[in-house]
Amino acid sequence: MTEVDAAWLPPQAWRAIGSRRIRVTGSGLLVDTVAGELRQACGRFGGEVVRGTGGEPCDLEMSLGGDESLGPEGYALTGDDTRTVLRAARPHGLLHGMFHLLRSDDAPVHGTFRPAVPRRMLDHWDNVDVHPVMGQVERGYAGGSLFWRAGRPRRDLARVTAYARLLASCGINAVALNNVNVHATEAHLLTDRLGEVAELAGVFRRYGIRTHLSVSFAAPVLHGLDTADPLDVWVRRWWEKTTAQVYATIPDFGGYLVKADSEGRPGPFTYGRSHADGANLLADVLAAHGGVVHWRAFVYNHRQDWRDRGVDRARAAFDHFTPHDGAFRDNVVLQVKHGPMDFQAREPASPLIVAMPETQVGVEFQVTQEYTGQQRHVCYLAPMWSALLTGTHGPALAEVAAEFVAVANVGDDPFWTGHPLAQANLYAFGRLAWDPELDPAAVLDEWAGLTFPRAPRRLFDALHAIMDDSWRTYERYTAPLGVGFMVRPGHHYGPDVDGYEYTPWGTYHHADRDGVGVDRTVASGTGCAGLYPKPWAQVYESPDECPDELALFFHHLPYEHVLRSGVTVIQHIYDTHFAGADEAAGMRERWAEMAGTVPAAKFERVRELLAEQVRSAREWRDQINAYFFRKSGVPDAKGRQIY
Ligand code: GCU
Repeated sequence: MTEVDAAWLPPQAWRAIGSRRIRVTGSGLLVDTVAGELRQACGRFGGEVVRGTGGEPCDLEMSLGGDESLGPEGYALTGDDTRTVLRAARPHGLLHGMFHLLRSDDAPVHGTFRPAVPRRMLDHWDNVDVHPVMGQVERGYAGGSLFWRAGRPRRDLARVTAYARLLASCGINAVALNNVNVHATEAHLLTDRLGEVAELAGVFRRYGIRTHLSVSFAAPVLHGLDTADPLDVWVRRWWEKTTAQVYATIPDFGGYLVKADSEGRPGPFTYGRSHADGANLLADVLAAHGGVVHWRAFVYNHRQDWRDRGVDRARAAFDHFTPHDGAFRDNVVLQVKHGPMDFQAREPASPLIVAMPETQVGVEFQVTQEYTGQQRHVCYLAPMWSALLTGTHGPALAEVAAEFVAVANVGDDPFWTGHPLAQANLYAFGRLAWDPELDPAAVLDEWAGLTFPRAPRRLFDALHAIMDDSWRTYERYTAPLGVGFMVRPGHHYGPDVDGYEYTPWGTYHHADRDGVGVDRTVASGTGCAGLYPKPWAQVYESPDECPDELALFFHHLPYEHVLRSGVTVIQHIYDTHFAGADEAAGMRERWAEMAGTVPAAKFERVRELLAEQVRSAREWRDQINAYFFRKSGVPDAKGRQIY
């Protein structure tokens, strides 16, 4: 295995637990994993692991047989300064409990812990082959795939093992291995290349993680049938036979993930069938084996006419799917992006998520930073996810979500995530998926404490100073007030205010000399505001009540409109862009003081990337400010340099 960063599980993080005398009782694969991890830690730090019941009491007792109400993954911790007792009803609970003890660094913990949702999943957008436009990992900013290289499976499964361990330690229990855009080579993973999936599933299984696969809705056609019509009997038989083969090879296979009728992918619309027809076909064949289908709701017209202001991409998923509420089988998870557009730095919650009471809805986040700095910018996303989950500016998604899914941000980069500080986003997704109430700053503390054990206090202070508010900093120097996009088309890095303005993708800001923003009101716009439940429909409808953060998402406002903050739209644009670029420069200075507190290679990587962030933030500042100054003709009240 090539030398890779230990991320948040360096050997030193195991010091406290590894110096204890630990009894592990119970049997099975996951109990063996737990015992193996502890043995390794104890070998390093002088502790001891004993298996089985009886004998001298140990200072850490881990056993099965806890109260059944703990569920399949929960655990209970009791004890005092000298002795800790961890009990779980199932082996998975022991695994999670062990990692809990690790992050609490041996401080006494009491309580009962269960995940908020049963499935916490990472979707990898990995291709087997290097795609000519997207590269090997679609929207990947951390190098090539962890799973495949040069068209073949990677042989260094040690790295996948290290990855599975990282995921398990933050609470992830499911992965999809391949890109939702299933290309020709990858379609074979379901059939004649299934062995590669089985091998990876074997690695993930040891850490309690089930493996899922993205499949093409047209898979039957790719394998020789002349139709993929979900109501065709031969199509059903093909899926039954194929799925039976999958389960014969991988008995605990998780299920299929499908992107259908979305951005050119095949789907049931081709055959005049509904998405319920499509999803239910797969759900039925998977149900026989205990599997689920994740059916993505990212359905919109990507060939729309920008001149038609009545068409609104933000409504599309809602309009497509709400008529089918109640029509999906119980083992269908409708996987909905957290916002109605596409993973922008600021969006309201997707109205679809709260409009499907009879459907299992999975909320999809994007850990890979496609629109949030592409892992060249520090952008700690937990505050954004937390705000959506707990409902800061809209409905609380955690109250309705059946599960949480996120697009992974990893690759074969030595730091896993390109930007070493982007590791925190992966960690935080897992932790918030387990417990959406967690405070993002506390999660950052956990991550930093594990990642940099025994580092000086000033490093932790600096990490908070740099990261806690970095999402808002990023928002400040990019697209303003929730309007979104304004990125360079295609690769989506750097500013291009009009990049998508006159294209068929449907992501427009409508700026003219008088104002900016998209009128999504019921009164005079696309009606998107009215898709929300009370009180949010009224809040968003009114320019005076709408949170400033979403002002231009829901309204086309004159530049001189006074926001709730008391500042005009145009002055807000100027102020935030100057502030955001200055904050990026401040992050760079703060990091420079951290030389010597973290390993040199990591320090250097972050230093280089912060230089790029400062450059890019200035570019954003100057382009956005110049654009709106030239459009509006309104000078900056503070007389700063605008070009
Ligand atoms: C975005 C992204 C695509 C991706 C798509 C999806 O549009 O740019 O690369 O395929 O989301 O989520 O399916």
